[in-house]
Amino acid sequence: MIELYLDTADIEQVARFKQCLPLKGVTTNPTILAKSLTGLRDLLASLAEIMGPNARFFAQVVSTTVEGMVEEAKKINQLPYDMVVKVPATEVGLAAIKQIKQEGIVVLATAIYSAQQGFLAALCGADYLAPYVNRIDTMGADGVGVVADLQHLINQHRLPTKILAASFKNTQQALEVMKLGIGAITLPVEVAAQMFAHPAVQPAVDQFSKDWHGAFADKLSFES
Ligand code: E4P
Repeated sequence: MIELYLDTADIEQVARFKQCLPLKGVTTNPTILAKSLTGLRDLLASLAEIMGPNARFFAQVVSTTVEGMVEEAKKINQLPYDMVVKVPATEVGLAAIKQIKQEGIVVLATAIYSAQQGFLAALCGADYLAPYVNRIDTMGADGVGVVADLQHLINQHRLPTKILAASFKNTQQALEVMKLGIGAITLPVEVAAQMFAHPAVQPAVDQFSKDWHGAFADKLSFES
């Protein structure tokens, strides 16, 4: 089954969507944490309380050297949760990923803007790849196409890597990449909410209610 994550540091929204979606965990990035003004440790403690012991969390290194990224990855990995370390798939990041994998740490290669870049990250041992679908689209390229090429390469070369598609602004982008058989996806809160917010749904439910109460007043279904 595809792994579904929420891309946020908003505790209330995580609690909300934990109720109604099969969330596997929560992804973050430095920008999300900076905007929330919540440190990683505090956030993870709150998230773990809401999500329970089987949840998976993603945190990104902010170091800029290979050695720094490797040391930071080790520290993130030592946190008392199921952690995945996010590393940007730059030249430095790819070198770090190769070393981090030797430590047996689970790694996601992030900031992926092309299939070529993602494929190299997979060959370096990344467990997850995060192509940025909407950011690619807004640059005038084809975000879904990049994910399709990447999934094709993963299948063709029988790599154990999962695509964790990221960066969405609408549900159509999410639908298109899910149709490709990717292993995981992370949705921002707004897009997660739109997934079940078709404008025709509530009117349909309201009509059922009106018809029912017109015929059976306050009786419940099994009481009629
Ligand atoms: C995931 O790895 C990214 O941090 C995130 O999904 C980017 O989303 P944005 O393009 O909406 O900032």
